[in-house]
Amino acid sequence: MSDAAQLLADLEVFEREAIAAFERARTAEELEAARVEFVGQRRGKFRQLEERFRALPPDGKRQCGRRFNECRQRVRAALESARARLAQPQAKAEPRAAAFDFTAPSLRIRRGTVHPLTQTIEELIDVFGRLGFRLADGPEVEDEWHNFEALNIPPEHPARDPNDNFYIDGQRLLRSQTSTVQIRVMEKQPPPVRIIAIGRVYRPDVHDATHFSMFHQIEGLYVDRHVTLAHLKTVLRQFAQAFLGPEVQIRFRPSFFPFTEPSVEVDMSWDVRGGQWVELGGAGMVDPNVFRAVGYDPEQYSGFAFGLGVERLCMRRHGINDIRLFFENDVRFLRQF
Ligand code: PHE
Repeated sequence: MSDAAQLLADLEVFEREAIAAFERARTAEELEAARVEFVGQRRGKFRQLEERFRALPPDGKRQCGRRFNECRQRVRAALESARARLAQPQAKAEPRAAAFDFTAPSLRIRRGTVHPLTQTIEELIDVFGRLGFRLADGPEVEDEWHNFEALNIPPEHPARDPNDNFYIDGQRLLRSQTSTVQIRVMEKQPPPVRIIAIGRVYRPDVHDATHFSMFHQIEGLYVDRHVTLAHLKTVLRQFAQAFLGPEVQIRFRPSFFPFTEPSVEVDMSWDVRGGQWVELGGAGMVDPNVFRAVGYDPEQYSGFAFGLGVERLCMRRHGINDIRLFFENDVRFLRQF
């Protein structure tokens, strides 16, 4: 290393140590001792650095000059501010607090990551956007009309049991499904409709690896003339394969929902070779009663609807085996995405 380079490195160490010593001093005596050690006229450490600087050849001086002066100024300023600090009576009592600069940038700034569910939601919007579905939205606090009535779920239906829902008062509840958005969209616009809605839904379930009292659904609704169950299956298969890979299969099992007829449960293959299936959600052809509730003519229009669990999709995508991980805010989990 050249003399100039060595001097630059030593200036670095000197500056750090001198400033730290001044900041550490709790009494005038300690500060004086530090002053003598670092910048004392005769035997201070800076004196020696100064002599080495003077001995440098002209281009060495040019290389170090600016840094040398800067170091002198910074150390001097640190000494001055230490003197000022010790001159204030209350600062003496709390030297550490006084020396701590709350505005200084942190040494390690850790950037967060986008939550895996948010990433999944963004991808869902993207994939369905490419299939021609626009994003729609609705409130999480709903009335019984949108959560039940208009969806052909009559008052005596077990799904409306107050024990199975989060009622806020006699009329309003936290929505238990995103199917509410189907109604809100159809009430506002004439057919054709091609929307998805993604958001939180709430059910008083006991928490375990596959259940949580709040989770996310993606709802889809397609209404036009001559829409059939074949369209539904094709859209869902294309979606599943675009989202999870071409090897993914989906299957329909007959089911019942008050707002679709016929209705199916949608499963996707979790592990193709192992022959394992996982239930993704429900779907079916929009029930004529739903069309009547929103003023659409069921003789002219048909449509399909589906509602899938977003957590399930995200879990399958990343091999996550416990839904609770999404909501515990454990950074050891979250940092992996
Ligand atoms: N809303 C249903 C549920 O939460 C799913 C569904 C949506 C079924 C649309 C059919 C059509 O279970």
